[in-house]
Amino acid sequence: MLVILKRDNEEINRQAAQLIASAIKKKPALILGLATGSTMVGLYQHLVILHKNSTIDFSQVKTFNLDEYFGLPATHPQSFHHFMRENLFRHVNVPQCNIHIPDGTIRSNYDQYCASYEQAIRDASGIDIQLLGIGRNGHIGFNEPTSSIASRTRLKVLDQETLEDSVKSFAPGEERLQCSITMGIGTILEARKILLLATGESKAEAVARSIEGPVTSSVPASALQLHPDVTFILDEPAASQLT
Ligand code: GLP
Repeated sequence: MLVILKRDNEEINRQAAQLIASAIKKKPALILGLATGSTMVGLYQHLVILHKNSTIDFSQVKTFNLDEYFGLPATHPQSFHHFMRENLFRHVNVPQCNIHIPDGTIRSNYDQYCASYEQAIRDASGIDIQLLGIGRNGHIGFNEPTSSIASRTRLKVLDQETLEDSVKSFAPGEERLQCSITMGIGTILEARKILLLATGESKAEAVARSIEGPVTSSVPASALQLHPDVTFILDEPAASQLT
């Protein structure tokens, strides 16, 4: 694993954006796995700037998002569809037909829907770069602790800690979430390159256990130790518990 330490968010975002920009230059039809969460906002702002100054052309890029809250329509302001539209897609030129985000509104044939998401990734010949954030409990995507390392795209019940973090951004009285649709850890591990960004002290324990701890389903991100090309880009607080 490559661990890159940066002074602050700004430097993390710049480095991650440059890495993605040079990958798109090398392969204009890049298959990009995308993540949501506050950690990604600054990175997407950088990508938008690089697009506006003509450094990046997304016209051939295909994207696959990690996850979505189960039960939220794409129009819901807290949905990951909405997050992606507002933070990235409405500012850049990824063709709509190249954007894939799990549908939080499916009501039946869940296994079939999840299998079709996996098939779409395979049909695109797999993900070149998968972006990840990390939850305080070590989750990646919505693969909460106890997720199998071989897991595939599926419905996953959200952990209490994740629910607490999620509902912070919901208006009082809005629907209580319980589940998500998420790529599995096995799905994530098939990406050719993985880039995980983490900032802040609240992520320090999860980061240290992921990088230095044993590989265990109690810390889903520790499964990344099994992947041959993973880069963590961290600020100092997030790296503070690393040996
Ligand atoms: C959600 C997403 C994860 C993300 C995490 C961290 O749980 N499903 O993919 O990594 O949030 O979010 P934040 O960056 O806001 O800490």
